Amino acid sequence: MCTWTRFGLLASLVAAPAAAQTSSETSATPAAPQTAAETPASAGASSELIARGEAVYNGPGNCYACHGSKGVGLVGPNLADAEWLHSKGTLEEIEAQITNGVPKEQSKSGIPMPPKGGSTISEEDVKACAAYVHSLSQKSGS
Ligand code: HEC
Repeated sequence: MCTWTRFGLLASLVAAPAAAQTSSETSATPAAPQTAAETPASAGASSELIARGEAVYNGPGNCYACHGSKGVGLVGPNLADAEWLHSKGTLEEIEAQITNGVPKEQSKSGIPMPPKGGSTISEEDVKACAAYVHSLSQKSGS
């Protein structure tokens, strides 16, 4: 009896990390069971997501072209300070902002931002980008 229990325990210990690894690599499928285990606090974004967002920001998202590297601002406004032109700067608001862009009528500077910055990044990449931008504003304090 004891032998069976131990074997079962061992098998699940070996199997669990392997399963987690494969699922994070194939991000095409939404890995439902793993997300809960990997993200400790659901409110904050994981550092993994932020790192991915930084890559999108400086890569296919084109954000850096208008907002500068590290979000210091260029054609578009500074994203690394605690001041927000179009929202209160919550993670959800930033995410919606990236998805929708800023129409010319709403732009404070008269310069519009196209939805997703004019890029074709996926919804997941928008989320990652939002987490990165949000983390920038958190670093600078309130
Ligand atoms: C073509 C230039 C351009 C690109 C590319 C661009 N933005 Fe923007 N962004 C702007 C402008 C312009 C505004 C609004 C300026 C205003 O209202 O005066 C803006 C506003 C924003 C805001 C709201 C800022 C606030 O203070 O409320 C966020 C967040 C934002 N952009 C994130 C992003 C992200 C993330 C990307 C990449 C996916 C991106 N932008 C790509 C030009 C751009």
